[in-house]
Amino acid sequence: MRPILHPQLRVPPPSVTIDILKSVIGADMVAVDRVLRDSLDSDVVLIRQVAEYIVGGGGKRLRPALLLLAAGATGYRGAEQHTLAAVIEMIHTATLLHDDVVDESDMRRGHATANAEFGNAASVLVGDFLYSRAFQMMVRLSRMRVLEIMAEATNAIAEGEVLQLMNAGNADLNEHAYLEVIRRKTARLFEAAARLGAVLGNADAATEDALARYGMHLGTAFQLVDDILDYSGDAQAIGKNLGDDLAEGKTTLPLIHALATGSADDAAIIRHAVTGGGLTDFAPVMAALERTGALAYARNRADAEVRQAADCLAGLPDTAHRKSLLELTSFATRRTY
Ligand code: IPE
Ligand code: IPE
Ligand code: MG
Ligand code: MG
Repeated sequence: MRPILHPQLRVPPPSVTIDILKSVIGADMVAVDRVLRDSLDSDVVLIRQVAEYIVGGGGKRLRPALLLLAAGATGYRGAEQHTLAAVIEMIHTATLLHDDVVDESDMRRGHATANAEFGNAASVLVGDFLYSRAFQMMVRLSRMRVLEIMAEATNAIAEGEVLQLMNAGNADLNEHAYLEVIRRKTARLFEAAARLGAVLGNADAATEDALARYGMHLGTAFQLVDDILDYSGDAQAIGKNLGDDLAEGKTTLPLIHALATGSADDAAIIRHAVTGGGLTDFAPVMAALERTGALAYARNRADAEVRQAADCLAGLPDTAHRKSLLELTSFATRRTY
């Protein structure tokens, strides 16, 4: 069996890859990596290999960073934040393992995906291991509120992924239905991360809700940009193949906009691609997206979303943590990876 981890990374370096956050939570992120390593120890070799993929594999660690920043912004100083940040990253990774099986993706973080390397069964089962280990860790914290937030969030993510599966190949999906999917599959975990930080910080209900809304808007923008990068990104930089969405017949916002505003010919191109043409239609679809300004439209939508995210921070005290939360909003839309 070949190991998942290869030493030559083609994606940005592991750990806190977002430089703007290093001075504020760099030390905490090192502590989170330590918790991750300790928590993923197992005598099952495949689980150890996937653990290494998480800790050393070049993920951006955005969700744990969000939790730490929200905790810091509400005055929390303690060790539970490292455990919960690790939990969030484990749940994120479990969703990725499952998502790559469903999307039949073979590249992530600049490497072959676990499903490409070890097969679908291994990916699904190790994903299950990560989910359940994450809940074991939360139970040990004996905080019902934390369990409640994460049980709700993981359930919503699963709903989002199933909803998306049901929408595959549907060229008539509208913007509202698309947003519903990305809020559940992606934004809910961002929301939960920010809310958990506020819970740790014993924030009042209004502050907790403001941070949760910040996370929801940030996560929505993050997925909007992910869906733009799936057409226009640099595969080296994002560490994933372009065109995965089209291959799966996913009607993401760029396609929805091109269908709604393009010529009859543009609409026919998109419809053909979504309902079966897939990747073979990538070039004509790209041309239709350019003619209709669809990527720019989606980018404006993401910009609007992060402006709303930033507004949610207005009531927080002026701290380095709040400043970083603000910086994350521009990272979410300007990112190239
Ligand atoms: C990928 O998330 C899944 C999406 C929600 C688009 P990230 O882009 O945060 O993945 P890593 O952890 O940095 O690889
Ligand atoms: C995000 O959707 C997946 C999850 C939230 C689990 P995508 O399918 O677009 O994510 P990538 O592009 O594979 O990372
Ligand atoms: Mg995917
Ligand atoms: Mg994607």
